[in-house]
Amino acid sequence: MVSEGGDGTTSVSVRDLLLRCPQCGATTSGDTTQFRCTCSTPFDLPDASFEPAGESAEALRARFHGRLSALGGSARSGVWRYRELILPLAEEHIISRQEGNTPLYAVGAGERDGWRKISMYAGLERLFLKHGSFKDRGMTVGMSVARALGVRAVACASTGNTAASLAAYAAQAGLPALVFLPGNNVASGKLAQSIAYGARRVTVAGDFDDAMRQVEEVAGQLGIYLLNSINPYRLAGQRSIAYELLHQLNWQSPDWIVLPAGNLGNTSAIGAALLRAAERGLIARVPRLASVQATGADPFYRSFASGWRALAPVHAHTRATAINIGAPVSYARARAVIEATGGVVTEVSDDEIFAAKAIIDRAGTGCEPASAASVAGARRLVAEGVIAPGAHVVAVLTGHLLKDIEQATGEGPVGEQEQPEVDELLRDIHQALSS
Ligand code: F0G
Repeated sequence: MVSEGGDGTTSVSVRDLLLRCPQCGATTSGDTTQFRCTCSTPFDLPDASFEPAGESAEALRARFHGRLSALGGSARSGVWRYRELILPLAEEHIISRQEGNTPLYAVGAGERDGWRKISMYAGLERLFLKHGSFKDRGMTVGMSVARALGVRAVACASTGNTAASLAAYAAQAGLPALVFLPGNNVASGKLAQSIAYGARRVTVAGDFDDAMRQVEEVAGQLGIYLLNSINPYRLAGQRSIAYELLHQLNWQSPDWIVLPAGNLGNTSAIGAALLRAAERGLIARVPRLASVQATGADPFYRSFASGWRALAPVHAHTRATAINIGAPVSYARARAVIEATGGVVTEVSDDEIFAAKAIIDRAGTGCEPASAASVAGARRLVAEGVIAPGAHVVAVLTGHLLKDIEQATGEGPVGEQEQPEVDELLRDIHQALSS
């Protein structure tokens, strides 16, 4: 059923949508709580199942642009602004914190000294960083659907950020939240958010992959609505990363978009959005996607490097805890978009990740370790001749510096660094200023 929505646009009811299995073609109703097909593949929300037919790319771009001046309401959100391409839910169902709206920093050759160091490090002349909160983009859509369906409770497994986001949106929606976390491996900034927002925590003896298996089981048994990226509405919201950054570039496609990869939700969602943007004529050509894994958690890279041999899960081990994932749920979706965008998958060591993070941090931008994999990956791909030095590249910085303060400085726990005596310090400063 299509009805009039908030700003003269149409809206859909989730119950009227059909989810489709990309593997065997089976369909199920959009209000399902069972996100895997009987063949075990996660269902997709098909493109265009709700998009208004016949609206020109120009009209759509103008509509999106017009919403930038909204002072309130969901048009203010960097997700719902693009609702026609995401999920046009009725305004009354939307749980939003004006998410998205994250900055796109130009750090290329012509920019200020500090920022320019990042592009010099990567070996690129035209580099942009898309910086900011990414889990909220999927969560606003997933939680809005959960509330529209009248579910009793929500849950996810997480390396930390999804849990923090789920906790915040569940609190806003007034729903009990359950987060399954790997025992000893969640950065304290993320944990603090989950605790403060009132989520109930289940600490799993094991890693993220164990937590993921458990939450699927428990959610199925207890009828709790699962909000991991296996839920296609989460992925629908994460598509806004691509739409917003293309909008910020005035719909001029970059050559490459480089991003860190763990459970492969972001890779799948961004890839799908790029393909859809091109199909709708919003952009003239599809940027290539480069997905970057940490060497200790690289099953997607291994599959790619072996000519797409079937995914072989690994026992993950990287200090970039956000992407410490060995059995990514969205493997098939991610593979499809890497192929369709002419993309690549690469891997970088923890040393490369922390070296890139130090450069990003010193530029006054900062990010959590997993996010720095994108800049480290861009550097590697330039060095290998895959990305040309003159290419127009956007690197996605997924998480904030303060998420992982234990590893913020690379010099041990914050507050425990050796401080020189004042006289010594003043002498150093004097020397630095006079040299
Ligand atoms: N960067 C950060 C900061 C993340 O938290 C994650 C994923 C990723 C990158 C990778 O994205 O999983 O879609 O490939 N964090 C998840 C979590 C898994 O539980 O917060 P992905």
